Amino acid sequence: MTVPINAEVARIDGPALADLLGRWSAADGPLYRLLAGRIARLTDTAVLPAGLRLPPERDLAATLSVSRNTVAMAYQLLRDDGMAESRQGSGTRVTPHRTTPAAVHRANAFFTGMLEQSAVSHDLTIAAVECAPQVAAALADPSSVLSSPERSQVTRSLGYYPYGWPALRGAIADLLTSRHGIPTSAEQVLVTTGAQQAFDLLIRCEALPGQAVVAEDPTFPGALDILQRAGTRPVGMPPGDVARLAHVLRLHAPAAVYLIPTYQNPTGLTMPGPARQEIADLAGRYPDATFVDDMTLAELPLSDAQAPAPLAALVPTRPNVVTIGSLSKTYWGGLRTGWIRAPEGIIARLAAAKAAADLGSPAHHQAMVSALISQRHEEIIKWRREWARARYAALSAALHSRLSGWTWTEPSGGLTIWAQLPGEMTANADSSAFAQGALRRGVAVLPGRLASVDGHAGPYVRLAFTRPPDQLTAAAGLLADADSHGMGSFGGAQALKSGSGGVK
Ligand SMILES: Cc1ncc(COP(=O)(O)O)c(C=O)c1O
Repeated sequence: MTVPINAEVARIDGPALADLLGRWSAADGPLYRLLAGRIARLTDTAVLPAGLRLPPERDLAATLSVSRNTVAMAYQLLRDDGMAESRQGSGTRVTPHRTTPAAVHRANAFFTGMLEQSAVSHDLTIAAVECAPQVAAALADPSSVLSSPERSQVTRSLGYYPYGWPALRGAIADLLTSRHGIPTSAEQVLVTTGAQQAFDLLIRCEALPGQAVVAEDPTFPGALDILQRAGTRPVGMPPGDVARLAHVLRLHAPAAVYLIPTYQNPTGLTMPGPARQEIADLAGRYPDATFVDDMTLAELPLSDAQAPAPLAALVPTRPNVVTIGSLSKTYWGGLRTGWIRAPEGIIARLAAAKAAADLGSPAHHQAMVSALISQRHEEIIKWRREWARARYAALSAALHSRLSGWTWTEPSGGLTIWAQLPGEMTANADSSAFAQGALRRGVAVLPGRLASVDGHAGPYVRLAFTRPPDQLTAAAGLLADADSHGMGSFGGAQALKSGSGGVK
């Protein structure tokens, strides 16, 4: 979970600091130096404000799966450098040190892999896919999909289109109408820089700071970051629990409800048709709440079973049911192409916000993407589905054979497995220590708490199956190795390396 840390926060606990540390140990050097160096940087950038009390050595050692000595030596190094001080009975605190005044936000640790350099051999945290070959070919040779007049139409234009390149708005509207049963006109579509920006714009326009926003718990961590940045109050509900949603709507009067009904991230579950109908009915009863159906993963079934209709297909004219989507998981994330489907009035509001944010996504790219959607969509989707199924098969087979104690509900689609680690199901069970141990073996996995609305610890990890099958198999072997060192059972994470000798 994203927790802004400011000077009023007197202490930080082990798991919260572990989130901030990111992949601190995925580099060369003694562990205590890597740890001290990372804490020092967080202090320099005022992410850890002056006066903040660091976790007790024993707690941080357990969370990071290192020896207590490693933490003690790291804290000593910080003291030697004047960045921390320790007093009898009050622990170790960050000292005033070249801080900036406005450390109000940090990215969800989920983004660490993209924001920092780290030496991880197998990154299973980010569900990013390689470019589909059809897309790569079109990017290499735009004339293969865009005629010469179409290309010069783009280059002769001024290039600023906050609503989106007109042909792409039309292509997305056609896609929603013909493939997903959501009757849509081009005027109801806003092109965005990925689904991430789509949700960001929506929240900024539809929710005020302090207002409640409902999200499934667990959910897509990037959405939690957006809610946090906008100062909203995220309220969790178990995926698919309509009774709970009705209760939350009554109690919290949320500004928005963010749902991923089709191939939910991270669980891969699909909300059944009747539940969708009930939610569409709730949208009628609560017109002040914007109901968001995130269809980013909706074209990625892992079987041939047909998913039920999206929310907007059930109530196409209900103004508070909004659809967002993206080509990032099917075509390629590097296109950064997403969209919002909403009534024209909301689209106008969102376009104004988009103009303020970036004046529009790149026009040339959008022209290429519109041609790809019109000419190659079917082919690309078919290719990507096989691609995803082969990867899921490889990872699930390797987990079954190497980590037989791990359990998960078979995902019906998407790109992630939400796996439950074995061990005691206690309230304090937390997969962070396991994730740290795995990191030391070169595998990055997402501890479940980063996908949780209230940051509650849980015995879950999210595993993205987007690496090549042989790498997924190798990663499962390394995870089994971490598990066999006791990292997979809770309450007793063992230290892997001593402070002085722990060299990567
Ligand atoms: C459910 C969901 N929504 C949104 C996004 C962000 O997508 P994009 O890369 O298009 O911004 C993701 C990416 O993983 C996702 O899984």
